[in-house]
Amino acid sequence: MDVSIRLARPREAAIVYRILMEAYAPYRGKVVPPLKVFESTPASIAVDIRTRRHAHALAFVGPTPVGTVRCTPGRNGHGQKRWTLSRLAVLPDYRGEGIGAMLMRWMEDRARQCGVVELRGEVRTALPFLVRFYQCLGYQVLGYRSKPGYARYLTIIGKRLR
Ligand SMILES: CC(C)(COP(=O)(O)OP(=O)(O)OC[C@H]1O[C@@H](n2cnc3c(N)ncnc32)[C@H](O)[C@@H]1OP(=O)(O)O)[C@@H](O)C(=O)NCCC(=O)NCCS
Repeated sequence: MDVSIRLARPREAAIVYRILMEAYAPYRGKVVPPLKVFESTPASIAVDIRTRRHAHALAFVGPTPVGTVRCTPGRNGHGQKRWTLSRLAVLPDYRGEGIGAMLMRWMEDRARQCGVVELRGEVRTALPFLVRFYQCLGYQVLGYRSKPGYARYLTIIGKRLR
């Protein structure tokens, strides 16, 4: 499969949005508390990209956009660069071909080139196959996050880069 990956431009926000909504649709109304991804809009994604608050990668099969992942630059407690990866999504028809893993590795390579020492992510604890997916990519479980009524609903994952 001819897969290429690059960063999305602000005018491609609607494409990112469409992939996210289609990929996450089965979680709507099922995963609690609801996923924040459902609060996003094409306009909010465009602002995020334009202001560089978040970057979104897009994966293409030939000319067709089929997957995305979001990266949020930040720093750890020592002032070193730490990026948070989130909103990984691949359209249902294109799953199981390694595109999700490719998107994660592509962001990881960019992170290394930018001098990032650590990657972080958060996964719903109720979706253990996703925690396993990230473990296969070298991430470790670092802890959990809770909020009233939802003990340990988020699993925090991370990976040190050298
Ligand atoms: C998670 C997701 C991005 C994976 O995309 P993908 O392109 O199918 O991933 P890959 O092909 O790289 O799969 C890598 C491995 O994870 C496994 N895997 C992927 N999705 C899986 C699923 N839903 N259930 C069980 N295993 C899954 C694959 O079997 C594969 O393992 P293998 O290489 O040993 O066969 C995709 O299923 C998706 O968009 N899901 C909905 C949104 C979502 O949950 N995002 C993550 C939020 S943290």
